[in-house]
Amino acid sequence: MRLLIIGDLYGQIGAASAIARSRGAKVAHVIDIEAAMNALREGQGADLIMVEVREDIEKLVTLLMRERFNLPVIACGVKNDKDAAVKAIKSGAKEYLPLPPNEELIAAVLEAITEETQSMIFNSAAMGKTIAMADQIAPSDASIMITGESGTGKEVIARYIHKKSKRSGNAMISVNCAAIPENLLESELFGHEKGAFTGAVARRIGKFEEADGGTILLDEISEMDMRLQAKLLRVLQEREVDRIGGSKPVKVNIRVLATSNRNMQDEVKKGTFREDLYFRLNVITLHLSSLRERREDIKPLAEHFIEKYSKANGVPARKLSEAALAKLTQYHWPGNVRELENSMHRSVLLATGNVIEPDAIMLQGSMEETVMSSAAGGGTMSKPSGGGAGMVGRTVDSVEQELIIDTLSHCLGNRTHAANILGISIRTLRNKLKQYGEQGASIPPPPTGTD
Ligand SMILES: Nc1ncnc2c1ncn2[C@@H]1O[C@H](COP(=O)(O)OP(=O)(O)OP(=O)(O)O)[C@@H](O)[C@H]1O
Ligand SMILES: [Mg+2]
Repeated sequence: MRLLIIGDLYGQIGAASAIARSRGAKVAHVIDIEAAMNALREGQGADLIMVEVREDIEKLVTLLMRERFNLPVIACGVKNDKDAAVKAIKSGAKEYLPLPPNEELIAAVLEAITEETQSMIFNSAAMGKTIAMADQIAPSDASIMITGESGTGKEVIARYIHKKSKRSGNAMISVNCAAIPENLLESELFGHEKGAFTGAVARRIGKFEEADGGTILLDEISEMDMRLQAKLLRVLQEREVDRIGGSKPVKVNIRVLATSNRNMQDEVKKGTFREDLYFRLNVITLHLSSLRERREDIKPLAEHFIEKYSKANGVPARKLSEAALAKLTQYHWPGNVRELENSMHRSVLLATGNVIEPDAIMLQGSMEETVMSSAAGGGTMSKPSGGGAGMVGRTVDSVEQELIIDTLSHCLGNRTHAANILGISIRTLRNKLKQYGEQGASIPPPPTGTD
C-alpha cells in the first residue's frame, strides 16, 4: 500500500505517517495538489491519497479523473467539522478522517482499501482448480493471459497473483486498453517527453516505467491497435520502453499480465491480434468460468456482497431468504460476478423486513421490463408486448438514448458492464454518453474505483 499525503495535515503529518507505516504502508509527502499531480505524472505510484480538507478537493478529484489516475481520496480535517466533511464527500472524497489521527480509524481505512482489491471468494471446484493453478504460477515471472466473460473476476485474480508473487512489495499497475482513447493509450503506456506532441506540456512517465519492479496488468488487451501491439512486442522482447519524443530507451523490469473477454485465438485468426505477441503473452492461460458454470459460488459471493454493502450503508446485514437464494441460483447471470455484486448492492438498499426476499432482488429480466415500460411513455405499457408497439411515435434515437441511460444506471454507472449488456463497444458507449451529456441529459457517473 502506497500512501501519498498532500499538505501537512494541520501539523499531524508525523503522527499519521507513523501509524500508516506501522501498518505496512509506504508513505510519501507533497505540499500541495500541484506537487501531487507532478509527482504522479513523474511516476510516483500511489494507492491512496490523504489530503487536507482545506485544499481544493474537487479540483484534485477532477484532475485525477482527467489524467486517469484511479485513486481513492481521503479528506482529513479537524475533528467534528461536519460542514467540511460533507463538502469533501460531495467533492468526490471517499472518506473523511478526523484529526488528530486515530490509530484504529487509519488502520480501518487502509484495510478497507486493501481488502477491496484482495478478497477472492469461491466455493466451487472449478474456481478451486483455477486458484490452485494461480498459486503455482504466481511466484514465477511468466506472462499470463487471463480470459473469461466480462465480470468473472479477471482483475481480481490478476491482483491475487501479484499479491502472491515475489513482486508484491512493488506496485501493480493496471491499464484498461479499451477505456482509454486510442490516441492517448500510447503515451499512457510509454510516457512522453515535454513537447513530444501538441498538448505534451510536461514530461509524463508511462505505466510501464511506473510498474518497474512490479507487475503491469494490460486489461482488455484485444482492444489494442496493431501499431501499439508491435511496440508492446518490443517491450516484451527487449524489456525496454521508448518514451514518445525520447532519445534513448529506458530499461524496465516488469511482469506482464493481460486479460481479455474475447477468444484470443479467434482474434489471431481474424488478423486483429498479432500471433507473435499472442505467444509471448500467453505463456500460461488462466480461464475463468462464467458464474452460471459454477453456481456453488453464488451463495458465498452473495453473502459477501451483502455484508460489504450493508457495512458501507450503515445498515444491519440481513440474511437471504430461501426463496431469494433460489432466485439467485437459478438466474443465468450474463454479467457474472459483477452483475451479482450490483444486484446485491441494490437488494441491500431495497430490502425492508428482517431478511432479503426475492422482491428486493432485481435481475436483468425485470430491468428490461422497466426499460420497455418507461420507453413506452409514462408507463402506459406494463409489459413489453408485440415487439414494443407502445413505442410507436418515438424516434429510434430517443429510444436508444433511454435504453442506454437506463442500462447504465442499472449497472450503477459501470461503463464496461453496460456496454456488454447493450452489445456495443465501450468506445461507442462513451461517444454516445458524451453526445447525450452535451445535449443536457443526466448521465449516471462511473462508480469510484472502477471503470
Ligand atoms: N471471486 C471473487 N470474489 C470476490 N469478488 C469478486 C470475485 N470475482 C469477481 N468479484 C467482483 O466482481 C467484480 C468484477 O470483477 P472483475 O473486475 O475482476 O471482472 P473482470 O473479469 O475483470 O470484468 P471485465 O471483463 O468486465 O473487466 C468486481 O467488483 C470484483 O470485486
Ligand atoms: Mg476487468
